[in-house]
Amino acid sequence: MKLLVCGGAGFIGSNFVRQRIVEHGDAVTVLDKLTYAGREENLADVRDSAGFEFVRAGIEDAAAVAGAIEGADAVVNFAAETHVDRSISEPDAFITTHAVGTFVLLEAARASGVRYVQVSTDEVYGSIEEGSFTESSPLLPSSPYSATKAGADLLVASYHHTYELESLICRGSNNYGPYQYPEKLIPLMVLNALHGDPLPVYGDGQQVRNWIFVEDFARGIGHVLAHGVPGETYNVGGPDEAVNLDVVKRIIALTGASDDLIEYVTDRPGHDRRYSLGSEKVRALGWEARVRFDEGLERTVAWYQNNRPWWETIRSGDYRAYYERQYGRSLGM
Ligand code: NAD
Ligand code: TYD
Repeated sequence: MKLLVCGGAGFIGSNFVRQRIVEHGDAVTVLDKLTYAGREENLADVRDSAGFEFVRAGIEDAAAVAGAIEGADAVVNFAAETHVDRSISEPDAFITTHAVGTFVLLEAARASGVRYVQVSTDEVYGSIEEGSFTESSPLLPSSPYSATKAGADLLVASYHHTYELESLICRGSNNYGPYQYPEKLIPLMVLNALHGDPLPVYGDGQQVRNWIFVEDFARGIGHVLAHGVPGETYNVGGPDEAVNLDVVKRIIALTGASDDLIEYVTDRPGHDRRYSLGSEKVRALGWEARVRFDEGLERTVAWYQNNRPWWETIRSGDYRAYYERQYGRSLGM
């Protein structure tokens, strides 16, 4: 199969591309703008594979997208701004990429008549105190990130309804694993713990997230691409949920850091308390998560311990300024 993977140089996209090339022998074109979160290094081990191409461009660039989609059998769109905290402090790029970018991709997919998978998030449903969201739960996003992702989902669904585009939506829960940019909870805590930097827990730390190992989510997306019914949405949630403070304590135990590093900091504005996804629909298609949180977290901590050059370039660059803006303190070296 020949795939156009947008946002394939980011965390989940690069894991997906690797899986498609290694396990399925696909020819993959990656189109990625290489924002702060996108890195060609994430694809270093697969970039010499047969049929691999890399195009540096935004999904909002219609000419670049028209060139990249030529010959593709399907488009999978990961390209997004993905950090809730950044969407609160600087939402502009979220609007451009999610609204305009998704529109440009949908038009290109329609013109080429190819299948289109939109990678989305459980955050479009908002927070839930008890129970789990299904695909028919109402969309109640809370942040500029989730609101613009929800808008993109609605546009994708309209392209099936109106133009009969073979579009599908895949909504994942919180991913973790190798190659995740250290602005997100797990890699941030792992790197801070390894450096003896404070571990900033928002509010009371009792928020709950449903964790999915990135390879399981990537496989779920591939499964929906192959077996999903056009026009349908599939939730792809992880096997375990965990309270944030508990996640931080497990990371402390795995890295041998001290509990004293935990520092309670000002809560995120509009912070969603709990996310929970029911994944029965994608299970009925034959997908199952394989990696439980305990095992996945151990593998993730080990990956960061063994891949210093990957994060050293990030941690010594612009990330330091982001960290200071976000947390009001500088990182140790
Ligand atoms: P990421 O931030 O690691 O990567 C995003 C990638 O998109 C980067 O390579 C970036 O350069 C690229 N990009 C950004 N704007 C672009 C644009 N305008 N044009 C082309 N490329 C652009 O994100 P991620 O965590 O890998 O998330 C990928 C997708 O999965 C997103 O759509 C996100 O909403 C969704 N998702 C993420 C999670 C999670 O926990 N990380 C959970 C569920 C769903
Ligand atoms: P995050 O990784 O940003 O994912 P999301 O907001 O999309 O769920 O955050 C996961 C949880 O961890 C969320 O409840 C916010 C919390 N959090 C902290 O307590 N401290 C931090 O430094 C970060 C980045 C997140």
